[in-house]
Amino acid sequence: MTLEAGELRVENLRGGYAGTVVLEGVSFRIGAGGKLGILGRNGVGKTTMFACIMGLAQIHGGRITFGGTDVTALPTWRRARAGLGYVPQTRDIFKSLSVEENLFSAVRSAADDKRVEAAFALFPRLRERRNNNGTQLSGGEQQMLAVARATISGPTLLLMDEPLEGLAPRLRDELMDAIRNMVETSGIGCLLVEQHVDVVLDFADEVLILERGKPVYVGGVDELREDPSILDHAIGLRKGTREGSSIARAW
Ligand SMILES: Nc1ncnc2c1ncn2[C@@H]1O[C@H](COP(=O)(O)OP(=O)(O)O)[C@@H](O)[C@H]1O
Ligand SMILES: [Mg+2]
Repeated sequence: MTLEAGELRVENLRGGYAGTVVLEGVSFRIGAGGKLGILGRNGVGKTTMFACIMGLAQIHGGRITFGGTDVTALPTWRRARAGLGYVPQTRDIFKSLSVEENLFSAVRSAADDKRVEAAFALFPRLRERRNNNGTQLSGGEQQMLAVARATISGPTLLLMDEPLEGLAPRLRDELMDAIRNMVETSGIGCLLVEQHVDVVLDFADEVLILERGKPVYVGGVDELREDPSILDHAIGLRKGTREGSSIARAW
C-alpha cells in the first residue's frame, strides 16, 4: 500500500461514448476513506462519470489516477484490482440465487472465501438472510446485497450509483444506516450519486454538482450548507423526495 492508496484524482475529464462527449472539464480529488456526494439532475452525466472512472465509457481527454497510478487507459478489471469497487445503477444481483451464493459468485478464488464472512460482518442483516433468494428480499435488502457484493473484491473506494433509487423513505434510511456503518467499520471511501440532497449533505464530506456534464460546484458540505442558493439556483434540486423518483424497477 502506498501512502496514496485509495486516493482518486480526476483531472479535466472529458468523457462520454464513441463519438459523443457528455462530460467536460470534470476535476476533483477524494482522499483515502473520503466521502464525495455527487448531485445533478437526470441526464447530466453522473452515471457516465462513474463509467469513465471504471473504464466502461470512452475517455476523450483528461486523466484519472487512483492510488497514485494513472488508470486512464487501464481495462476495467485492472481498475477493480487496484481497489475501485462499483455498484451500478442497474443493481447487479442474481435474484434466483441466495444471498450467500450472490456473495460467493463475486469471490475470485477459494483463498478469498473469507471475504463473504467479512461482508456479512459489515451487513449483519444479510447474514440473517443468507439462505434467502434474491426474490425473497425487500428492495432495500436487494440493494444492500448489491453493495455488499461490491465489497467482496476488497475495494478501497466504492462508487455507488443511486443505491436508494426507488426505495420507500423507511427503507432508504435503513440502507443509508447500513452504508454508513459499512464505511465507518471498513474505512472504505465512497463516491455516492444520490438525488436526495439531505442524504448527501448528511453523508458526504465533499460534494460535486454536475450540470449538463460540467461541474458547477466542487467543495465542502459545510460551504454548501451555508450557501444553499447554489443548490436552488444552479440546479434547482429540491430537498426531500424528488418528483418522479419512484422509478418502477422490476423488483
Ligand atoms: N451508452 C450510451 N451511449 C450514448 N449516450 C449515452 C449512453 N448512456 C448515456 N448516454 C447519454 O449520456 C448523457 C448522460 O447520461 P447519464 O450519465 O446516464 O446521466 P445521469 O446518470 O446523470 O442521469 C445522457 O444524455 C444520455 O442520453
Ligand atoms: Mg444515472
